[in-house]
Amino acid sequence: MSSRYSEVYQGWKEDPLGFWKSAASEIDWISTGDKVFDPDQGQYGRWFPDWECNTCYNCLDRHVERGRTGQPALIYDSPITGQTKTYSFFELLEEVEAMACVLADSGLQKGDRAIIYMPMIPEAVMAMLACARLGIIHSVVFGGFAANELATRIDDAAPKAIIAASCGIEPGRVVAYKPLIDGAIDLASHKPDTCLVFQREQLSADLKPGRDLDLGALKDAAIAAGRRIAPVPVKATDPLYILYTSGTTGQPKGVVRDNGGHMVALKWSMSNLYDIQPGEVFWAASDVGWVVGHSYICYAPLLHGCTTLVFEGKPIGTPDAGVFWRVISEHNVVSLFTAPTAFRAIRKEDPNGELIQKYDLSQYRSLFLAGERADPETVNWAIDKLQVPVIDHWWQTETGWCMVGNPLGLGQLPVKPGSPTVPMPGYDVRVLDDAGHPLGPNTLGNIVVKLPLPPGSLPTLWNADKRFFDSYLAEFPGYYKTADAGTIDDDGYLSIMARTDDIINVAGHRLSTGGMEEVLATHPDVAECAVIGIADKLKGQLPCGFVVLKSGVERSQDEIEAELIRLVREKIGPVAAFKIAITVERLPKTRSGKILRGTMRQIADGESYKMPATIDDPAILDEISDALKLHGISV
Ligand code: COA
Ligand code: AMP
Repeated sequence: MSSRYSEVYQGWKEDPLGFWKSAASEIDWISTGDKVFDPDQGQYGRWFPDWECNTCYNCLDRHVERGRTGQPALIYDSPITGQTKTYSFFELLEEVEAMACVLADSGLQKGDRAIIYMPMIPEAVMAMLACARLGIIHSVVFGGFAANELATRIDDAAPKAIIAASCGIEPGRVVAYKPLIDGAIDLASHKPDTCLVFQREQLSADLKPGRDLDLGALKDAAIAAGRRIAPVPVKATDPLYILYTSGTTGQPKGVVRDNGGHMVALKWSMSNLYDIQPGEVFWAASDVGWVVGHSYICYAPLLHGCTTLVFEGKPIGTPDAGVFWRVISEHNVVSLFTAPTAFRAIRKEDPNGELIQKYDLSQYRSLFLAGERADPETVNWAIDKLQVPVIDHWWQTETGWCMVGNPLGLGQLPVKPGSPTVPMPGYDVRVLDDAGHPLGPNTLGNIVVKLPLPPGSLPTLWNADKRFFDSYLAEFPGYYKTADAGTIDDDGYLSIMARTDDIINVAGHRLSTGGMEEVLATHPDVAECAVIGIADKLKGQLPCGFVVLKSGVERSQDEIEAELIRLVREKIGPVAAFKIAITVERLPKTRSGKILRGTMRQIADGESYKMPATIDDPAILDEISDALKLHGISV
């Protein structure tokens, strides 16, 4: 089948407002405004100004009203606890309304913020939708972050409530959430009024009288009493959520997502990009703490009338590398979306794909990969073993949905391994040199998107318009800076090569090496430090920290290195996967004192490198190489 992509993309280019107005007809609006886009509002304009809507209504109520009452809306499959549970649209709406009643009873209102700190359980999605129902702005924090990170987010978002679970479960350990939350509230200057805790049977949390409430008990009581609560009208431009993501410092960026544009873009993507029909089962094997989880576990499948899957497990070890195939087969999943790292892990355990043969995958149609570079070896393995289209697509927390992909719903374009294919309507993607001049085909440069960004993308950062402007808009006037570097070939196919900032990507998780350096620098024995991302076969990249100790420190290096590893885990969290700390005598620098992190990374990855012309002392590079070898890293 030939693809309609070029025609559709061209149609958008010729009439962007008409394109998005037509896409908006898939959403139920409370009222529509005169304009589709107002270029004079916000940082670069706002989509659907003065339109009114409710995201929860569009995800749930309208499907119940139009005949999807008994269709499964959410399937919870938890190999880590051995539980599965299915909620129909009717049941999910009942749960969400009950949870919204609890939030309203706790004094939360439209515009208030609530932090959600929950593992992959249905209550996490219910909490998000309950907030959306009342116009409360949620901010989900990933369970693998430590108290300190949670505290930073509490101070920035100033939430009225924290909605949490008593624990998360990782292979071999139960992660108690409540001590982390209490620790974070102690650390934060802002104090939330209330903490609503969902008690899980694996571990019950102590509740602080006067502040903490039992969320599950209150929700069940609201259901038993038959309580309902109507969706609150919000403006399309009102924030639906804030999602914090790594910036170039330890202070994360609060990405704001609005209600209206977000719904329009996600709904469009379900049929045109992912090729999914309402009523089908769509599974994003990510976590609600990440943008993929927000967009494609919670919102997009439900907006589209699909069944979504909440999976509490890992691609391997819960119990084996066949769990993805078991889930796909058991729940009739038609499309899976995950990070390449998950497939690298599965392939390592089951190189011949023998576990795949155990399951009936006849209804399964496609695999979507994002979050990090999809290496051709992994992509080819997946195509070979699954015999379905494997689609790499590129996006960021900031954009909320795919910038560059292969639109299955419009007809698949030829795949070029290593390229996520072509820009989606809404995204005019260009490659510029550092001075902002356009670069020709196949030339590496800064990937930027011509403004305005399309519906669904961030309008700004929470309470930080200036930071938004400085981070994304200032360097290349008229464009959004993605901070990714790459090329566009003669056919318009994009390749993403590297970040242009200090962000690294560990197992599909976005982390700031600058943030880790800030933590290492707080150790009393550390004089200076540098953290780089080094290549890892499984996780894509791993952080590796070099430290120079203060003169006169006599304690053993091993002891200090172990303390540094503990410190990052304690301050940022286990998700940082910081397990390599290396003491060196000196760090390589330019004569003006800039640490040569890029050259250090090339040495660690065994790449050939040019001796930097401005290096202060070339001998230090050999010292770095020796130190890496001493730590078992082949260079
Ligand atoms: N709560 C608490 N701790 C968590 C956590 C959570 N929600 N998620 C991860 N962690 C911990 C892990 O237990 C691990 O701890 P450890 O150092 O004690 O072993 C650490 O954080 C690092 O986690 P991660 O890098 O995710 O590795 P992993 O061991 O959990 O599994 C693979 C990683 C290899 C299985 C990987 O393929 C994978 O699937 N990663 C998740 C990819 C993903 O969902 N990305 C989202 C973008 S789409
Ligand atoms: P996050 O905001 O966590 O989604 O991370 C976004 C970053 O992950 C991007 O800026 C890229 O550096 C990287 N990334 C995401 N998807 C891809 C992809 N398909 N190919 C290459 N890199 C990707």
